[in-house]
Amino acid sequence: MSDQIKSVRGMPVILPQDIKKWQFVEATARSLLQLYSYNEIRTPVVEKSELFQRTIGQETDIVAKEMYTFQDRKEQSLSLRPEATAGIVRAGIEAGLFYNQSQKFWSIGPMYRYERPQKGRYRQFHQINIEAYGFPGPDIDAEIILLTTRIWKALNLNSLKLEINSLGTPKSRHIHRKELQDYFNSHKEDLDADSLRRLDHNPMRILDSKNPDLQDLIESAPKTIDFLDQASSEHFQALEAILQEHAIEYTLNTRLVRGLDYYTRTVFEWTTDQLGAQATVCGGGRYDELISELGGQATPAIGCAIGLERLIELVDLLDQNQQNDPPKIYIVAVGAQAEGQGLILAEELRDTYSNCSIEMNLGGGSFKQQFKRADKTGADIALIIGEDEIANNTISIKSMQSGEQQKSVKRKDLLDRINQFL
Ligand code: HAM
Repeated sequence: MSDQIKSVRGMPVILPQDIKKWQFVEATARSLLQLYSYNEIRTPVVEKSELFQRTIGQETDIVAKEMYTFQDRKEQSLSLRPEATAGIVRAGIEAGLFYNQSQKFWSIGPMYRYERPQKGRYRQFHQINIEAYGFPGPDIDAEIILLTTRIWKALNLNSLKLEINSLGTPKSRHIHRKELQDYFNSHKEDLDADSLRRLDHNPMRILDSKNPDLQDLIESAPKTIDFLDQASSEHFQALEAILQEHAIEYTLNTRLVRGLDYYTRTVFEWTTDQLGAQATVCGGGRYDELISELGGQATPAIGCAIGLERLIELVDLLDQNQQNDPPKIYIVAVGAQAEGQGLILAEELRDTYSNCSIEMNLGGGSFKQQFKRADKTGADIALIIGEDEIANNTISIKSMQSGEQQKSVKRKDLLDRINQFL
């Protein structure tokens, strides 16, 4: 036998036994996104590499270390998307969706980052993205936070904590950056190689470092919040006021800078203490400059992404009971004639009971074998067709859960009678 081909590291399968949880979480999010008037958008998994370099930033870990980049047959450099925002902005500009308009989009799909896989961190993972365009004020920042809060509530999650910060405008960032460079330059001997590399081009990325030896140094570094311009400061205060009005608890985390370069003003993250090191379930913020940087008309923008693997892991911990399976009917048919009748019956049932799951026993077998299969599928009722039923033009019904005696029903009455058993 030839060697078995194994999965690509960090790219797990979602097996049928786990998919119900995914469907439940996705359906919950979908209905709440609709409630807040967001429209779905689907963008390609592959984009030109330059899009991510220019938006997420060359110096970020995502672009510098984690992108799946390849050349196509025309030797253009393409990348699997490491996140969705850049592609949505690119698509929105191309389709003329931003100029003089406001838009609320959401999107779901796989993202790709060449990270070191561990629990909660994968190389293929899934995000729900929520993005809003054309709203300059703090009201939309608050609305997105309220929407995510409502998603956690609907999923019965209460371990998630909100952290917020403001990064200001490019102008205020410029002043902060200078201060930051001076600060880290005066502590150069304490920096690691990664941080030294970032010192000239993008010192704010040093604040993002996970190196435990640097944490004290980072803790005392100049903070963006102390360099905000008047308008950014008012924006942030107004956001805090709305959050307080809605009794949304949050902490100001002045070290929160996010791992992507496109953010301006508000940034936020929802974190949990229940997932070990991979604590961030949702992250986002404003990116008011990005559309003009990519050649569109300047349009204010904000969004966030929920990491589905992490979210679902939390839902898992709480043993949700909301996973309602549709009623399941299994058709047991023994003998060639019965099998033919069974297939006809299955189609009739699918016409009438479209909210049920109907499984016809395929591949023959004795009554005993077929009942065993019915049991294994978790069927609620079995419909039985054997020689007697064919001769008498009847169908026998057996409730699989209650263990009651099976009942015989006239074939013509069956479709009406089934309801009593479901
Ligand atoms: P991000 O913080 O890079 O932001 O990712 C958002 C979320 O995706 C994370 O909080 C985490 O839950 C999940 N995630 C990220 N990487 C992995 C991974 N390797 N394995 C599993 N889950 C992961 C963004 O992607 C921005 N585009 C969010 C945004 C939208 N900002 C504005 N609009």
